[in-house]
Amino acid sequence: MASFAQRLAREQRAFLSRPRGAWASHLDQAQRFLGHLLASSDPDRPVLILGAGTGLEVPWSEAPRGTVGWDADPWSRLRTALRHRRWPPWRFEDATGAMGPLAAAAHRAARETWSGRLREPEVAQARLAALLPTLPMEPTLLREALETLRPATVIAANLMGQFGEVARREVEAAFAPLDPWDEAPELEAAFQAWHRRLLTAFLDALAQSGASLGLLHDRAVLEGPEIPALGPFADTWMQQLQGAGSVEAHDPLSGLDVLAVLVPRRPVLAQRWWWPVGPGQIHLVEALAYEA
Ligand SMILES: C[S@@+](CC[C@H](N)C(=O)[O-])C[C@H]1O[C@@H](n2cnc3c(N)ncnc32)[C@H](O)[C@@H]1O
Repeated sequence: MASFAQRLAREQRAFLSRPRGAWASHLDQAQRFLGHLLASSDPDRPVLILGAGTGLEVPWSEAPRGTVGWDADPWSRLRTALRHRRWPPWRFEDATGAMGPLAAAAHRAARETWSGRLREPEVAQARLAALLPTLPMEPTLLREALETLRPATVIAANLMGQFGEVARREVEAAFAPLDPWDEAPELEAAFQAWHRRLLTAFLDALAQSGASLGLLHDRAVLEGPEIPALGPFADTWMQQLQGAGSVEAHDPLSGLDVLAVLVPRRPVLAQRWWWPVGPGQIHLVEALAYEA
């Protein structure tokens, strides 16, 4: 079975092999947002870039010396070096700390301990739904890194929207060839609650670090040929849509609202824009900056 790191590497390869013709405006806005945060950070203290990836969105030339990249894809640092001619310190672990316990629980739920045989689908689904609320949710390595590095700025560079998708792949791998989500509303609800706990724990760790924060993430994924117009920034993304009567929307954050989780803090910068990722698939990207 593929490891978490191998799965991320595979996803990243597939992602980078997509036609990128329509990405220019997204990349420009993301680079400007992240470039501004990097250039305005204390030059004598490190920045921590979570989800640094291959540096497509990250203008490393603006990053203070000592800036640390973090990405569990084993190829991310090398690809960043090839793109930016820079070899930064790097962390390759799962930044959430939650994927290992999830994979182990999914395996325990799906298969008999003694024989390794798959259980009946309803039994496996019910077992996992019961296990999910009991799983630990503590990004220990991230907290330790934040305490050791004491970064002036922490950037979450478009990784939060991927946590849920990658977690689903972990569950699917344990259940294969069964489809864990088939006719399983209780499992779906338990998974989404687990996912919200994960995002909340991740954001708590960032908020408690005392660093300035730059959060860039997918806020919604829309399906359809039309790109709705966006009005002025509003706290709820749907209020910002104009004339989007019949769009099909998917929430990559399982209903969690980043702005609401971080209250009473308010962002000093808040933007949303469209990213046409592929034919008929449009991401609404949210960029939020918070002062320390
Ligand atoms: C959409 S990509 C971001 C691309 C990146 N910002 C860039 O400029 O190339 C999300 C990145 O987050 C990483 N990632 C996703 N989940 C992660 C996790 N739990 N821990 C560490 N890295 C993760 C992926 O490997 C991927 O490189």
